[in-house]
Parts: sequence; structure tokens; C-alpha cells
Amino acid sequence: MKLFLDTANLAEIRTMWEIGILDGVTTNPSLVAKEGRVFEDVLKEICALGVPSVSAEVVATEKEGMLKEGRYLAALHPSIYVKCPMTSAGLAATKVLAAEGIRVNMTLVFSANQALLAAKVGATYVSPFIGRLDDHGEDGMALIRDIVQIYRNYHFATQVLAASIRHPVHVLDAAKAGADIATLPYGVMEKLVTHPLTDIGLARFLKDWEKVPKSVRVSPSDR
Ligand code: E4P
Repeated sequence: MKLFLDTANLAEIRTMWEIGILDGVTTNPSLVAKEGRVFEDVLKEICALGVPSVSAEVVATEKEGMLKEGRYLAALHPSIYVKCPMTSAGLAATKVLAAEGIRVNMTLVFSANQALLAAKVGATYVSPFIGRLDDHGEDGMALIRDIVQIYRNYHFATQVLAASIRHPVHVLDAAKAGADIATLPYGVMEKLVTHPLTDIGLARFLKDWEKVPKSVRVSPSDR
């Protein structure tokens, strides 16, 4: 399963990229607005790190506008995936962009039927928003399971990108359901790394190590 960061913050992306656990980045207009920076500059800097998949969203709502923006964004760097919203215009634009070889991430997906349509027009990723469904009193993870099953039934190549993740259990359940990718806020990705028993265990090992007789010639870093 691939793990993406859902952010437009360079420091956050750099931190996870340097650890080596990051497979991609998703941005959206709200995340970009938080940074107060020029969109293209942010995208180019993320791509320059070597991140292989960077989703950038169009803001046009009509097909022609989406095509224009999508082609422009895709031309900025080979790692860019164009995000189109799940609307009639978004589906029509995705069909054209996909035929041109531009990889599309269909976003704002809230039903399995929408995901079926995204696959039919050739989207590379489909992004079901599980946290927002949960917030709305629905079962976001059931949607992931339904989409995975439908795509398997018909051998669609579209990858399921679990989005709007709120906590580590969402990541675990998305992985169990067979999602190809999960995109996580920075705080959630941090929580995947840490466990209090790891910290307690490490502290105990280091304390016990102090009791071990040491060779005068070998420092710990030479071990
Ligand atoms: C996905 O690509 C979106 O950016 C995202 O996951 C939205 O999540 P939110 O519901 O936390 O805004």
C-alpha cells in the first residue's frame, strides 16, 4: 500500500520524504491556501524533492477550463497528477485528459457509483473521502470496500486512494480493505511511526546498556 501526505507544506513533506516512507503527495485548494504561496512554486518544489506522484487540482468547473488547467498543470512536471472533481464536466475532462496520457485523480468521490464512472473514463486514481462521510453519519470505510470489490470484479486499473483520513485506524482499515493508497494529514502519518511502548522499551534498553562493561577502545558509535 502506498502512503501519500495530504498537505502542501514543504517542511512536512521533506520530513517524511527524508525518512523514506512517502510515496506521494496530494494537495487541494484549501491546503494550498493555508500556505499563502504561489501554487506553481509549491508544486515545483515538491516535485524537485523527487516525490513521484503529486496531485494538483483544477479549479475550473467547466470541461474546457478543466482541460486547459489540467494540461497546464501536467506540463509543469512529469510527477504531476491532475485532480478533477467528480462532476459531469469532471468526468468529460478526465476522459479527454486520460486519452492524452495525463494521469487524473478523480476527487470528491462519495459513492461507489461515482467511483465506477471515474474508472470508466480512465481515471488513474479515485479519491473517496472517508472522513467526510463519517462526519456526515455514513460509513466511509464501507465505501472503500465497495469500490475495491467493484474494481476487482471488472478488472479496472484505476487505483483506490483513500482520502479524508482522520486517524490511524482509518489507515489500518483502508489497508485491510485493499485500498491501493491512503493520503494522510501529517499528524496521522506521525502517529503511524510512534507507539508509547516503543519509547518505553527503547528507554529501558538504553538504561540497561549503561550497566554493560565497555571496552575503553570502542565507543558506542564504533560498535
Ligand atoms: C484528498 O486528496 C483531499 O485533499 C483530502 O483528503 C481532503 O480531506 P479533508 O476531509 O480532511 O479535507
